[in-house]
Amino acid sequence: MAGALWLVFLSVVLQISRADDRPNFVFLVADDLGIGDVGCFGNDTIRTPNIDSIAAKGAKLTQHLAAAAVCTPSRSAFLTGRLPVRFGMAGTDRPLAYAFLAAASGLPRSEVTFPQMAKDHGYQTALIGKWHLGLNCKWVGDHCHHPNKFGFDYFYGFPGTNAPECDPDDVSEGGTGATAKFITNIVYTDFYVWEIAVSLFLCLSALKYFQYIQWKTVIVLSVVGWSAVICTYVYWANGRVFNCVMMRDDDVIEQPYDVSTLTPRMTLDAVKFLEERKEKKEPFLIEVSYWNPHTALLPYKEFRGKSRHGLYGDAVEEMDWSIGVVMATLDRLGLTNNTFVYFTSDNGAHMEIGDAGGWNGMYKGSKGQGGSEGGIRMPTLVQWPRKIKAGTVVTEPTSQMDIFPTVADILQAPLPQDRVMDGRNILPLLGGAKQPSPHDFMFHYCGNVLHAVRYRPKKGNVTWKAHLASYPWAPGTTHCGDQQLACFCNVQFGVTFNDPPLLFDVTNDPTEDRPITADSYPKYREVLDVIKKAVEEHKQSLTEVDNQFNMPLFFPRPWLQPCCNFPSCNCREDVDLSSLEIQM
Ligand SMILES: *[C@@H]1O[C@H](CO)[C@@H](O)[C@H](O)[C@H]1NC(C)=O
Ligand SMILES: *[C@@H]1O[C@H](CO)[C@@H](O)[C@H](O)[C@H]1NC(C)=O
Repeated sequence: MAGALWLVFLSVVLQISRADDRPNFVFLVADDLGIGDVGCFGNDTIRTPNIDSIAAKGAKLTQHLAAAAVCTPSRSAFLTGRLPVRFGMAGTDRPLAYAFLAAASGLPRSEVTFPQMAKDHGYQTALIGKWHLGLNCKWVGDHCHHPNKFGFDYFYGFPGTNAPECDPDDVSEGGTGATAKFITNIVYTDFYVWEIAVSLFLCLSALKYFQYIQWKTVIVLSVVGWSAVICTYVYWANGRVFNCVMMRDDDVIEQPYDVSTLTPRMTLDAVKFLEERKEKKEPFLIEVSYWNPHTALLPYKEFRGKSRHGLYGDAVEEMDWSIGVVMATLDRLGLTNNTFVYFTSDNGAHMEIGDAGGWNGMYKGSKGQGGSEGGIRMPTLVQWPRKIKAGTVVTEPTSQMDIFPTVADILQAPLPQDRVMDGRNILPLLGGAKQPSPHDFMFHYCGNVLHAVRYRPKKGNVTWKAHLASYPWAPGTTHCGDQQLACFCNVQFGVTFNDPPLLFDVTNDPTEDRPITADSYPKYREVLDVIKKAVEEHKQSLTEVDNQFNMPLFFPRPWLQPCCNFPSCNCREDVDLSSLEIQM
């Protein structure tokens, strides 16, 4: 009897101590930051001492891949551990991302995120900053795609994204009228708006001609069709009011938001969240999701003109400062040792926009190119002093989708069994285990089109990459030129499909300058055959899903528009930034 009681007592003690052992989690996510923009990845002119310090105290991942080369799909994959094609967040070509806060598209409710898993295990969770995965479905307050519905207890930030339209003067790209150019390009060339309107009218007239419908119907349907076109135009042209919206949980607190104070405000809010958790002794998971250094480039006044790379460099240095404040807060609260800190970017630097975009180092490609290293190889660091040795370098291929299963392993939480997970647990690699990547294959998508496959055989130490597609790079560059927003995914945008695929050894040729041929490598055919078979198997694991960016879901619906002080849609958050000591 006494023995049994002892056992119960011991197991309770063990449980408690295990519970106390669980780390906290801090995720720091940059927007459009290139792997060549960070000090510890080789940049010697942008100052990122706080990011570099994470590398020095933890692990640097040199082949960490995003699941997509644009924000919305990449972020949805990061949170769910799954490829966006599995749940409709991949798009068919354009559009590839969520663009209007008044649209009904977004992360499907059937998806499970790792913050939700942490919440289910007793963590307090927060998202501070950018979401970009949808907002409403049927009416303006349903918030069916809101971060609070996907495991974040607390949300302070912008449900959409920062974008050139959020700049009141449109000066951040050198006053080139980037927003106007953007609108013209997208609305008039890509969405075939006029073609749709004219075809609608012709169809209706034909129906009338053959007496299927009455003139009344023609008029009503034309009005509906034209309203849709005009409404979309109004939304594009007034993007700042409609899309640059700041929320705290369910409330709109600033519209349009002031980009230039976002990072200081987010930093203050993150510090407050950390202090509260410490005080209440609650385990926490926080994601600080920066606008930096995505356009509109409007860093806080203290940071302007301070870097050697214009507003872009200023924006990177502002983010680094904020990360420094978050890390110093962990230190001050005595939380550093047992906090898992992860830093990454959602996709590669946007090379098409010149000085307003960043630098992907030696890697070829740009934002938008889901198959190019420059589009998806992310500057990534993990710090967790209890488990990860300072100065660890992980060169094996890893993915942002690995975070879900890795957090699950840390929490001893089971993975969802009813779905395919694409991520793998990388805790052993982070812990310094000398072993190959848990991924034999990685499938690199552009929208819903497979553009490249990475193959890491368990034996040997080479990683292969097969390019199924090539982009129409502007001469002398590895991007699509400044006349275009970015490269896209299909033949109508100049993409060519390679048969046989172009094969590279990215371990020994990371810049992909020397394609492997049957002459240069005797087992060339064998490698391609293995990859081909893997692609077939992978395709069989995909199921038919609704595309979240199809036209009806993508276009704005006025009744879904968040708006404070209706009808002006105008409000300001009252914040005092004087408590922030900005030291550079
Ligand atoms: C953190 O860990 C290090 C080494 O493991 C140890 O020297 C230090 O005292 C710890 N700090 C705290 C606050 O626990
Ligand atoms: C550092 O980043 C800037 C801005 O993106 C870039 O222009 C520069 O080439 C980078 N330097 C190195 C050494 O990569």
